[in-house]
Amino acid sequence: MSQPSCVVHHEPESLRQACNDARAKGLRVGLVPTMGALHAGHAALVSEAHRRCGFVAATVFVNPTQFGPNEDFAKYPRTLDRDVALCAEAGACCVFAPPVEAMYPPGEATRVRVSGLTEVLCGASRPGHFDGVATIVTKLFALAGPCTAVFGRKDYQQLKVIERLVRDLLLPVEIVGHPIVREPDGLARSSRNRYLSDAEHARALSLSAGLSDAVHAFERGERRVGVLRGIVRSRMEPAVDSIDYVELAHADTVQPHGDEETLGARALLAVAAKVGPARLIDNVVLGEDPAPKVEEAR
Ligand code: PAF
Repeated sequence: MSQPSCVVHHEPESLRQACNDARAKGLRVGLVPTMGALHAGHAALVSEAHRRCGFVAATVFVNPTQFGPNEDFAKYPRTLDRDVALCAEAGACCVFAPPVEAMYPPGEATRVRVSGLTEVLCGASRPGHFDGVATIVTKLFALAGPCTAVFGRKDYQQLKVIERLVRDLLLPVEIVGHPIVREPDGLARSSRNRYLSDAEHARALSLSAGLSDAVHAFERGERRVGVLRGIVRSRMEPAVDSIDYVELAHADTVQPHGDEETLGARALLAVAAKVGPARLIDNVVLGEDPAPKVEEAR
């Protein structure tokens, strides 16, 4: 059987032209922005865009402005050939993989900043990260002019930042948040999982196991923020190398609740931790998402 075909664009103007041509044919344009090193989670995003749109563009760009000086920009995995094959298989019509200078021309001096949502959770330990995300996503929207763009809910805070950005800049794009895709043992799929040894992978399962315990406690009626955070931390602390945060937060504004507070019917529970060389994140919306199914024995 022949592989589905997928055109690769490296120049911004050639992506713009392809999207214009698709619109001229009456097709809805769907966009799936990624940084590459794609996995089944990304394939699900592309399939979702394909379900909604006649023309799907996936982007593969390791965006330098969203990495801090001591982060993994240089060693972030770059696997373009495999990424293109995965995108084609999942229904993308093209992949946009520009060089850095094309997205950040010499003398570039513009950043997009969404305030309020970006100073907490990941924004607290990764200053400037969400400015980089908001800037590159705005540029991709400007090039592709998508009707729909699909993002994973693993990056829940990022999704909320992009939703805010689209509302504030009056961009005519529908933002779709796709549920987290997990590995068979329950670990949330991430391009950074490939940094983990088997032993580190096993330890990383404490993130989803902690979330799972908290969902069960919430379902039994536990609403005390301090108690729910304690449940998650007690799972993670013995397993991970360091915890960045375990927070209960407002599910729309992502503002953290204090330990003395009591939750209402719905709240974001988000975690970030370092395991070996990888910084991992995961989350559930209590009152909405099921408990992650975790298989800890490997
Ligand atoms: O989620 C990601 O992979 C990136 O943050 C994104 C949205 C592609 C922007 O570089």
